[in-house]
Amino acid sequence: MSNAYIRGLGFYVPKTVVTNQDLETVMDTNDEWIVERTGIKERRHVGRGLEETSSDLGLKAAESAIENAGIDKNEIDFIIFATLSPDLYFPGCGVLIQDKLGLDTIGALDVRNQCSGFIYALSTADAFIRSGRYKNILVIGSEVHSMGLDMTTRGRGVSVIFGDGAGAAIVSATDEEDRGILSYNMHSEGKYAEELMMGFPGSKYGWTDLLLTEDFEPDFEKIYPYMNGNFVFKHAVTRFPEAINEALNDAGYRINDIKMLIPHQANMRINQFVQKQLSLRDDQVYTNIHKYGNTTAASIPIALAECVQEGKIQKGDLVCLAAFGSGFTWGSILMRW
Ligand code: ACO
Repeated sequence: MSNAYIRGLGFYVPKTVVTNQDLETVMDTNDEWIVERTGIKERRHVGRGLEETSSDLGLKAAESAIENAGIDKNEIDFIIFATLSPDLYFPGCGVLIQDKLGLDTIGALDVRNQCSGFIYALSTADAFIRSGRYKNILVIGSEVHSMGLDMTTRGRGVSVIFGDGAGAAIVSATDEEDRGILSYNMHSEGKYAEELMMGFPGSKYGWTDLLLTEDFEPDFEKIYPYMNGNFVFKHAVTRFPEAINEALNDAGYRINDIKMLIPHQANMRINQFVQKQLSLRDDQVYTNIHKYGNTTAASIPIALAECVQEGKIQKGDLVCLAAFGSGFTWGSILMRW
């Protein structure tokens, strides 16, 4: 039985930088609040009129991952695309990537697990490779949040956090026994689905008349993302350490064995809390939220790609990925680089 390992990585972020100062001009917020509560200094937005979609960003990340992996694109035999901001409500972005890359009629699967999307997608790739079904799987996490955020003071609790971007990995089979994905876990708790959600266009709130209040005003909490920030925060700081410890226990390792933890980049304070709880040093936790904000399914692959580019992960290192987000969903992956 083959192990699954990450053979190549790539990422892409749109050119337009939106600083906290830029946000101050469109809503009642300030740099000090955003930096203190989240650690974010700037994020990228595709920008109106530039017409970049989640699959466009995903394509650029994928092309870079293919080059980095040193394979021919026609060696890819399956696509997994994670996003909460697809180009179209249906079909998903996987098929759009199949077309844009000009691939044969290979399968394309879409994952809808928000901030945990890349963990779910990579775990699924691992299962397909271990089963012997596929040899090279393209896994993408990509988001264009900026087209669906409430960029007024009403939406400031959510809109200052999110940014656009994409990350991609070529996940391949290897016969090296102690290499690649060693363990993973995926969890969910759907009773909290509406603590962090976007209701429109879904069959629960998607009827146009239900989206209007008595005064025929749009129900903004349904057409824009809604987040009960404090509630999400409290669950995140509990679930992150649980998932990381589970991945370590399942593979027979301890926290000190980790070279690098790549947590989902939702909030710097969440990551600092997790670091403290697990007694990890600063150099064991990778952070880039100050540059990109929360790019949901793209956060982990962008961070992983940057971390590798910066030479902070070498062959043989133990690397842990972990995420928590809307669903609620959460999970962790432990791998030997
Ligand atoms: N600028 C200025 N003030 C603001 C802003 C803003 N952008 N946003 C909110 N405020 C105000 C609020 O109105 C409130 O004012 P009040 O006390 O007068 O009512 C005050 O700041 C505090 O607001 P809180 O919401 O309590 O702020 P908190 O410290 O909780 O930070 C945050 C909010 C950053 C959203 C935090 O709760 C958080 O990060 N939560 C977790 C997010 C997360 O992990 N999400 C999961 C992944 S996302 C996904 O899966 C799609």
